[in-house]
Amino acid sequence: MKMLCNTGDVPAGESRRIELPGRPPLAVFNLDGSFYVTDDTCTHGDASLCDGEIDTDDGVVECPYHQGAFEIATGRPAGAPCTVALRVYPVEIRGEAVYAAVEEVETACP
Ligand code: FES
Repeated sequence: MKMLCNTGDVPAGESRRIELPGRPPLAVFNLDGSFYVTDDTCTHGDASLCDGEIDTDDGVVECPYHQGAFEIATGRPAGAPCTVALRVYPVEIRGEAVYAAVEEVETACP
């Protein structure tokens, strides 16, 4: 698990882009006090979902480029033209800190 930010850095209904060395940026979302971590880059194009609109009632983020959408908790596409799911990472809150299991899984080559 890696620490990404503090819970206070992401107000309810908002998101925050997190850059970690050596990997694509992540997005931390706060849906009414529940935190979720996904890839920040839309699976349809090179857009940052942290620049998109969050619908906290539906738990959906709308991409700023073509208004595609994803369910934040599952990464499932929730609006055209997005068809490929967003990667979602397990989150753990430790005290005031938001941690996510973002380490790449090592796979042994056959
Ligand atoms: Fe996100 Fe097209 S880049 S919907």
